[in-house]
Amino acid sequence: MQLAHLQALQPLCAICLGQGAQNRIALSRRDLGDDEQVLQGLLQCPVCGMEYPIIDGIPILLPKLREWVQGSLFHLVKRHDLSHSLDSLLGDCSGPDGAWESTRATLSCYGWDHWGEYMDGQDSACPPGAVRSLSKTLTEMRPCQTGPLIDVGCGPGGSTHSFALAHPERLVVGVDMNFSLLQAGHRILAGQGELPLRQEGVVHHWHAVRRPETAPNLALWCADARLLPFASGSFGGASSLNVVDSVDNPLQHIQELARVLDHGASAWLSSPFDWSTRATHVAQWLGAHSQRGDHGGDSRKVFLGMLKRGVLPFQLHAESQGEWRLRTGARSHTRYQVWLAALEKGEQIAVAETGV
Ligand SMILES: C[S@@+](CC[C@H](N)C(=O)[O-])C[C@H]1O[C@@H](n2cnc3c(N)ncnc32)[C@H](O)[C@@H]1O
Ligand SMILES: [Zn+2]
Repeated sequence: MQLAHLQALQPLCAICLGQGAQNRIALSRRDLGDDEQVLQGLLQCPVCGMEYPIIDGIPILLPKLREWVQGSLFHLVKRHDLSHSLDSLLGDCSGPDGAWESTRATLSCYGWDHWGEYMDGQDSACPPGAVRSLSKTLTEMRPCQTGPLIDVGCGPGGSTHSFALAHPERLVVGVDMNFSLLQAGHRILAGQGELPLRQEGVVHHWHAVRRPETAPNLALWCADARLLPFASGSFGGASSLNVVDSVDNPLQHIQELARVLDHGASAWLSSPFDWSTRATHVAQWLGAHSQRGDHGGDSRKVFLGMLKRGVLPFQLHAESQGEWRLRTGARSHTRYQVWLAALEKGEQIAVAETGV
């Protein structure tokens, strides 16, 4: 974590924020790092005393820290010094359903799309860069206003990097809760990147990632899309690229996006509306059920209906469609037609609904 980013973004205590108080956290311990950045250390809330760790330069600013650490231990202690042959052997032994394989498959899928253009591995069936292209289309549909930008659910940070290159004068923070994806992004930005490319089954080939164009104003932090540790009105633009159907409470995520945006700022939304109970309970899906209603179960119509009723403090500026392709193996990819919406932060005129 760059100290300049801490100073500029002024993160808040997630525990106090959950109780309605906006208290800034401060660095309380620096175990590894230098005058400019902290690689290992602690941040602390001066009011409630809650401590937030910084691990491998990534501040973990979550409200349910204990729960997250218990679920993320594998990612937190994963080694990076194993040879490719040992990696492959451990993959064979742990099998297709374990954490080893699911982590490699996730890194392969999102890593290729976000950073494939900086890798030597070629795959003409599924070219990389889909999410970067979605971010470009959305910002063309409605530019941001002044202030920092936030890329929520940024994965390994390729879209965050695109935002940062397009707005070199802005601070751009990408947040996600998947530590392995954030760590991969950090290592790539530091010029130490390496990503697995899944061939099939548990067979992966590792590829070096070339150091991308420097983006000194880019930060990748671990934060929850449902409780962003930032003051209300902090950002001039916020993106949620293919995240709405990946969080367990999509409405809370969108309301949180609105809260951290300044009045008149842009929200850029992309979604395949590929709902699944692995990520979201059916009761929280925005559409994709209750087809007898006026919306016919169409998630886009449900979303637009919420805007019309003033449930969300956004006005629709423009909508479109885009293609989002994800490489899943050497012979397979998933192709989505995603809904794109550029929104303007305005006033909320109705009380929020809980389920749709
Ligand atoms: C389908 S992926 C999309 C990643 C990236 N935006 C893209 O389009 O390639 C959804 C991302 O949302 C993240 N995510 C899910 N729930 C989250 C939450 N509550 N807070 C932050 N990130 C979350 C996942 O870790 C994952 O990286
Ligand atoms: Zn606190």
